[in-house]
Amino acid sequence: ARTRRYTFNVTMATVTRLCVTKSVPTVNGRFPGPRLVVREGDRLVVQVHNNINSNVTFHWHGVRQLRSGWADGPSYITQCPIRPGQSYAYDFRIVGQRGTLWWHAHFSWLRATLYGPLVILPPRGVPYPFPKPHRQVTLMLGEWFNADPEAVIKQALQTGGAPNVSDAYTFNGLPGPTYNCSSAAGDDTFRLRVRPGRTYLLRLVNAALNDELFFAVANHTLTVVQADASYVKPFAAATLVISPGQTMDVLLTASASAAAAAPSSAFAIAVAPYTNTVGTFDNTTAVAAVEYGPHQSAAAPLRSLPLPALPRYNDTAAVANFSAMFRSLASARYPARVPRTVDRRFFFTVGLGADPCRSRVNGTCQGPNGTRFAASMNNVSFAMPRTASLLQAHYQRRYSGVLAANFPAVPPTRFDYTGAPPNNTFVTHGTRVVPLSFNTTVEVVLQDTSVLGAESHPLHLHGYDFFVVGTGFGNYDATNDTARYNLVDPVQRNTVSVPTAGWVAIRFVADNPGVWIMHCHLDVHLTWGLAMAWLVNDGPLPNQKLPPPPSDIPRVRLAIKMFPY
Ligand code: C2O
Repeated sequence: ARTRRYTFNVTMATVTRLCVTKSVPTVNGRFPGPRLVVREGDRLVVQVHNNINSNVTFHWHGVRQLRSGWADGPSYITQCPIRPGQSYAYDFRIVGQRGTLWWHAHFSWLRATLYGPLVILPPRGVPYPFPKPHRQVTLMLGEWFNADPEAVIKQALQTGGAPNVSDAYTFNGLPGPTYNCSSAAGDDTFRLRVRPGRTYLLRLVNAALNDELFFAVANHTLTVVQADASYVKPFAAATLVISPGQTMDVLLTASASAAAAAPSSAFAIAVAPYTNTVGTFDNTTAVAAVEYGPHQSAAAPLRSLPLPALPRYNDTAAVANFSAMFRSLASARYPARVPRTVDRRFFFTVGLGADPCRSRVNGTCQGPNGTRFAASMNNVSFAMPRTASLLQAHYQRRYSGVLAANFPAVPPTRFDYTGAPPNNTFVTHGTRVVPLSFNTTVEVVLQDTSVLGAESHPLHLHGYDFFVVGTGFGNYDATNDTARYNLVDPVQRNTVSVPTAGWVAIRFVADNPGVWIMHCHLDVHLTWGLAMAWLVNDGPLPNQKLPPPPSDIPRVRLAIKMFPY
């Protein structure tokens, strides 16, 4: 194992997309940010210097951070933000994980431009459990806003309404030929050059702020081999569904017949949203190209490539069918250590809600029925602490004024979650966490609610991978649904979508001491409070305890103002 050192200089840089030139936060002047490549077992040290006029933190999405919670990165959860002019070194090991993960800013909506891939190669000499690809390509799907994303969310919070949607989806930051407006034709298109008969490993990441995405390549079938840096039983799919936060490694074989069939020898890669969202969404399709042989440099032919067939934007059945395909490898070499018994069971409702307008809000309230949008779990809308990080409070055992260790295990009232909502839809607010003793086996059933319309929510758990042991539509039924759990080869992930008007059950063992946020990876929902945190206590042995914070951890600062309310 080696130590890999990287420096992240966070600076503003000029970027042009969709004919709009603007200054955006970047890492080392690059958008998207640099690709980090490590091997399983390596130590990673990323020295961050904040040179922009905003607070920032970085999160290594999916990295387990075993006893290195100080490096996890969500602002106010495991650290106070790195203030302008400050530095902080994220120092952690990659233990027992391999595949594709990614990193992104975890403060406000800065991850709109501050993100990049984190590729974890197997230990030297260890093969993949699938045919060795000819080449590996990381492909990050993103979302581009012509406006400043910080201004977009700030305005939404002031009016109480939904934020403006993005202007395009992107492939490694490129929106595709439809939007090409430069004279250097084709510059805005991601192109994957392939040779017939060869197989390519696409390391896909959905880095979009607010949209789950369909992904397909015209005339090509994809083979899924990995999800969230865990191997799965390989399966073929014409269309993928990737939720924000999720990663998916897929094999694409360039076929000779495909090349012969197309005169241009190019095929469209298309990305479009999957949503049942309340209100508007970015309903654009982004296009990239798979190119055989000598490529066409002009954008014009790319514009006329036939698009692969994609499901309708709200095709929840197609999404459910795709999700059902995922099984962990569960082989002798890669066993699935699924917890068979459970120490503590939780039932969390997940969904949108509303708040009364407050007097200090400017103008009228543009949320539902003159209220302000909010989101919650078990009707608690998560309030970010302002004076210390939760991990700091936990480490110093000083909860008062920072957090309350009483997040409810079940919702305050039971109702028909996927039917007509109850009358009073107002949420409560608080920084409430669930304390867990070390090594507790946890089951959480996440139930979507239709209070403001049913919608799928990509839930991400920090600090752990979990097993997805069950899922279904309608209201979760403890007796019948539990009996149908898959405890043999359930997929292991760090982000799972709670299906629209449905539920999903996950299990994990709380063997990593620290404070771990679990939240919806749609940034607008996170901003509205769709989050909670687990506080996992130390175990009795020295190697089961959270070490002290590094000396350069950003200092506590009183009265930090994050959002204007
Ligand atoms: Cu990728 Cu808390 O996030």
